[in-house]
Amino acid sequence: MAPRPNRPAPGALSTLVVAVDGPSGSGKSSTARGVARRLGLRYLDTGAMYRAVTWWMLRHDVDVGDAVAVAAHAGGPVLRVGADPEQPSVSVDDVDVSEPIRTREVSNAVSAVSAVPEVRRRLVALQREIIGSGGIVVEGRDIGTVVAPDAQMKVFLIASAEERAQRRTRDLVADQGATLNVTQAELARRDRLDSTRAASPLTKAGDAVEIDSTLIGLDEVIELVCKLAIERAGAS
Ligand code: DC
Repeated sequence: MAPRPNRPAPGALSTLVVAVDGPSGSGKSSTARGVARRLGLRYLDTGAMYRAVTWWMLRHDVDVGDAVAVAAHAGGPVLRVGADPEQPSVSVDDVDVSEPIRTREVSNAVSAVSAVPEVRRRLVALQREIIGSGGIVVEGRDIGTVVAPDAQMKVFLIASAEERAQRRTRDLVADQGATLNVTQAELARRDRLDSTRAASPLTKAGDAVEIDSTLIGLDEVIELVCKLAIERAGAS
């Protein structure tokens, strides 16, 4: 096993914010959770928050293709998010939705919901509240650019389209009937919507370190991000 990087004084890490952005299936969750665990930091999956709001809209028969209707209901769902990397959790109106938010139904509706500015405003405010004074790894699409532009460490994770589709197909529960081709097409559609929307599209922050997880394994990515994060925490 590779040696663990030395930790700086706990004080330096308590204000550290590590932003991990990138497209679907690029390895953000494994990387962000792995880094949080390794460094003893909290972990926030902002994609789960957009998925939870989407789940709520679907359950309340809100037409997710109607941006005006989604905006009108943006204040409806009451979200609670757990930031323990060992057991991340998200609930809406006191219902634990950690599993249902991973269905294809939610995956295929989430880009439309997350493109609505009223939804983003509400979730970004909640995300900043959770981030607080730091000590956290946050994954998403707009963390380094919008949610935490002052984060000391920003990672933009990418991977080839084939690799990303393979990972997502493995992630999907068996009975959801998604073949590799279907997953690849759905991912491509979601990436296109997430990258071309008007409100906070997926873009790489100018000061982010780009890492291609097709070329190096996720363990190595985690190792590298921890090393860089520790250097930056020590320097700040
Ligand atoms: O990371 P994920 O695939 O679970 O994210 C689900 C969707 O949520 C993604 O398609 C776009 C949206 N999202 C966003 O708009 N901004 C974020 N910070 C995180 C996710």
